[in-house]
Amino acid sequence: MLAKILLSVVAAFVAYSFVSSISTKRRHAAAAKALGCEPAPVEPRADPFALINLVKTMWAHGNNRILEYLQGTFENTSSHVNRTVYTYETDFLGDKVLFTCDPKNIQAMLATQFKDFELGQIRTGSFAPLLGHGIFSADGKQWERSRALLRPQFSRDQVSDLDLEERHVQNMLQALSAVANTWSNVVDLQPLFFRLTMDSSSEFLYGESTNTQLSALSEEASAKNAEDSAFVNTFEACQNHISMAMLLNEFYKLMETKSFLDRCRLCHRYIDQFVNKALSRKEARKGVEQDKKEKYVFLDSLASETDDPVEIRDQLLSILVAGRDTTAACLSFLFLMLAQHPEVFSKLRETIIEEFGTFHSPQDISFSRLKACSYLQWCISETLRLYPGVPWNSRRCARDTTFPTGGGKDGLSPIFVPKGVEVVYIVQLMHRQPEFWGLDADMFMPERWQNQKHGFEYLPFNGGPRICLGQQFALTKAAYVVVRLLQRFDRLDGSPGASEPVKWSVGLTGRPKNGVKVRLHAAAE
Ligand code: HEM
Ligand SMILES: *[C@@H]1O[C@H](CO)[C@@H](O)[C@H](O)[C@H]1NC(C)=O
Ligand SMILES: *[C@@H]1O[C@H](CO)[C@@H](O)[C@H](O)[C@H]1NC(C)=O
Repeated sequence: MLAKILLSVVAAFVAYSFVSSISTKRRHAAAAKALGCEPAPVEPRADPFALINLVKTMWAHGNNRILEYLQGTFENTSSHVNRTVYTYETDFLGDKVLFTCDPKNIQAMLATQFKDFELGQIRTGSFAPLLGHGIFSADGKQWERSRALLRPQFSRDQVSDLDLEERHVQNMLQALSAVANTWSNVVDLQPLFFRLTMDSSSEFLYGESTNTQLSALSEEASAKNAEDSAFVNTFEACQNHISMAMLLNEFYKLMETKSFLDRCRLCHRYIDQFVNKALSRKEARKGVEQDKKEKYVFLDSLASETDDPVEIRDQLLSILVAGRDTTAACLSFLFLMLAQHPEVFSKLRETIIEEFGTFHSPQDISFSRLKACSYLQWCISETLRLYPGVPWNSRRCARDTTFPTGGGKDGLSPIFVPKGVEVVYIVQLMHRQPEFWGLDADMFMPERWQNQKHGFEYLPFNGGPRICLGQQFALTKAAYVVVRLLQRFDRLDGSPGASEPVKWSVGLTGRPKNGVKVRLHAAAE
């Protein structure tokens, strides 16, 4: 009985998609022809509905191999049509999906034809239980409002407060217990970087640090420590859950389980304490002369713009998602690269000592001097090229439109992009194309930035109207941490296995799968 019902449902679905796909295909073909478009290459598939491709994609994602897998799909499609393919088409449960690593098409989508694309319901809907309608899960007017609210918070004065960072770097150094002229044991720097960015982001955002670095060091946990770490763990679990939900595409709501919603609520309650305090502070301050020298706290500044506690919470959590893991991942990948490239480590350390002095007598480490230190910036840029924190991303097409390139036999004709199509863009693959970066594209070479000019083929921070708001903030913080650590340690030794190709772990953002296991040699002064 059940089998019969199932069979008729499947038959009806197949018949329906067949008929509807024929009529949509006709309409699209006519529109494409009118616009001078040629078809994009189609990924070779093992079965008519590309189900095997779908299963393979899910498997690759579940096993932390999605980037290698996607590279394989581009290679296979390329050999199928006997030319290098930068944009191809495939099917996802009956929906057409485009994959691209072509800077011209990505530029069209993110910048020149910004209005034709949106994050779309799958992204905004799957983020909503945790982030509500914060900037990371908003489209259209809602996004415009968020962007206008948040942008002034990233002015130069705010992003150049380095005293705050120094306190948290000092806490990180406690965990590394450096003894002058001595090698440390093997340590994994990755969890330390994630704690560091959590502690400094929380202090910057809501004025009270989670101090996860200190609680990791102390034996007994205070009630506040326990609450902080419950929040941090739950918040991370929620992000992983969301990255799985997004894979289900149209069916993301299946992942909205009770336990997930409960965990989201725990995060909300935790942040709400700070929001409520800030709103009362604001009330208390009314009519009182402002003390100009007060420490800048993102939350207080937001609270002066809006009274809506839910909106403030959504934005705070969104920025924590946006800024914390990406910065920690950048530092993690950079130290892996430095461990693999001793010559780069030495040159970078020499530059740092020359510009900023030694650890105990640092000289004038400021926003502008960090930015002006070219070799330091090249090392960071090169890390973000090979290991962009958001290695793949997507947008949904909001109205019938075209991409400038990728269609026809030679791949030079425009292609038609119908409304509703999901476009997946893989920045990590684009950052390694020999066509744009030369035959040594896969190699870590900070020197390449000496003469490198770049447009949309370099996109770690996204581009167009939704470009990362925290770019300067992240680059300053990361550079500061590198300077202080390289002042403190004069040699870095990767553990065995560190020279193998770096494996990714990819959730909402990417990080090294096997951590950053190194030994550090503390400098004499
Ligand atoms: C190395 C570190 C970072 C990287 C690689 C990075 C990368 C990105 C990328 C790729 C996006 C676009 C996401 C999308 O539209 O789907 C983005 C957006 C954003 N980032 Fe960053 N980010 C970093 C650090 C930060 C920091 C530290 C902050 C804030 C403290 C921040 C705040 C934001 C915000 C608010 C957006 C949303 C912009 C919008 O949608 O209008 N980011 N970032
Ligand atoms: C590419 O093609 C080869 C040979 O047909 C196959 O074994 C491999 O799984 C394909 N890779 C992807 C990512 O589809
Ligand atoms: C593939 O392209 C190359 C040149 O790009 C050409 O020499 C070769 O004959 C082509 N192979 C096939 C099977 O069309």
